[in-house]
Amino acid sequence: MQIIPIASGKGGVGKSLLAANLAIVLARAGRRVVLADLDFGGANLHLILGVRGVTVGVGAFVTNPQIEFASIVRDTDYENLRFIPGDGEIPGIANLGSGQKRKLQRRLRGLDADIVVLDLGAGTSFNVMDFFLLSRRGIVVTTPTPTALVNAYLCVKNALYRLLTTTIKRGSAADKLLKEMTRDTERIQRIYLPDLVARLEAADPDTIARYREASATLRPRLVLNMLDDPKDAERATRLRRSCSSYLGLDLEHLGIIYRDELQDVSLGSHLPIVVYKPDAVLSQAIERIADKILETPADEDSREWMDVETSFATASAEAESDFQIKSDYVNELLRTGALSHGDLLETVKSQQIEINQLRRQNDLLKAKIVKAARMGYDVGSGPWRSR
Ligand SMILES: Nc1ncnc2c1ncn2[C@@H]1O[C@H](COP(=O)(O)OP(=O)(O)OP(=O)(O)O)[C@@H](O)[C@H]1O
Ligand SMILES: [Mg+2]
Repeated sequence: MQIIPIASGKGGVGKSLLAANLAIVLARAGRRVVLADLDFGGANLHLILGVRGVTVGVGAFVTNPQIEFASIVRDTDYENLRFIPGDGEIPGIANLGSGQKRKLQRRLRGLDADIVVLDLGAGTSFNVMDFFLLSRRGIVVTTPTPTALVNAYLCVKNALYRLLTTTIKRGSAADKLLKEMTRDTERIQRIYLPDLVARLEAADPDTIARYREASATLRPRLVLNMLDDPKDAERATRLRRSCSSYLGLDLEHLGIIYRDELQDVSLGSHLPIVVYKPDAVLSQAIERIADKILETPADEDSREWMDVETSFATASAEAESDFQIKSDYVNELLRTGALSHGDLLETVKSQQIEINQLRRQNDLLKAKIVKAARMGYDVGSGPWRSR
């Protein structure tokens, strides 16, 4: 059984959209899939899936011992796809206790399925990371915006850091040293992870040997969502470099997805986009991601990874070809008269207004950053090294 956790760092980047649609595509391909909404406090997958009348889910299961796990795994309208709702209305589940967490993890691992897709909450808290680390090849979703990219980086960094802290046994030499170093929380956020590991290694080589073994199999997979332009695809390269030089970790590119207005229409129709319009560029991009997942071995210990370089080159090529398809589509609409030049002009105009608004917001934010920097706020030395 393969677990596919989907995390992001920043919220609103498309985790749930990807989780729901990917689960449907994988189920269509004949895999027995379970999709779980683990966005504690912000569960909304049922809306994307179009499931109504959700009453019990993960929240009820972890807070009420009378509720059987099997009773929260429900069938969906889609063959081979079952769904575990999150029920966000239960307060306090955002602070899931470690006993509850372990119980839930055990049940998820024990599911009788081929693939379990986990839609995680935004952020990089240990609770999110612990579910992300249920797989060595979890998916990190980001958009090309700088904040989303920084958050994606922090997501990978915190996953590694969580792996480190869970490998260290209580009372060991590494544990004592780490506790000493983490007393100063400001400092630990800024610390360069390989340096930290090297210092711990000097004090406790056995523990760190175990960590190195565990982290060597960690290969998070990137999905770059909401592209507007093929150039946006280049943003992933910087994230990859940061992960490799500051964390010593390779990222694999699982694919790009363009922003698509059809997504809003599909939401309004209560049908996931891969069902509403399977041939849309957005749906096809998700199918492509599913294909790549199905091509990789399910075995967690397998190191038959796609070559990193190839995965990034493929993603760039996808960005070019999807853009071409999108422009061809507009040209076709113009040619057949379905879209008049007037309509097109209107669209361009309204987009221009939107761009101008965004520019103004951007200037405002820049001014705020400059002001904060002047007030002596340390924004760190490297681009990704500090919060
Ligand atoms: N490629 C896309 N094209 C158009 N709209 C998109 C695309 N990806 C996501 N969206 C829209 O962006 C919004 C955020 O997406 P989604 O809810 O999947 O993000 P999320 O990462 O799960 O957010 P959260 O962190 O709040 O759970 C939704 O309205 C979704 O329909
Ligand atoms: Mg979500």
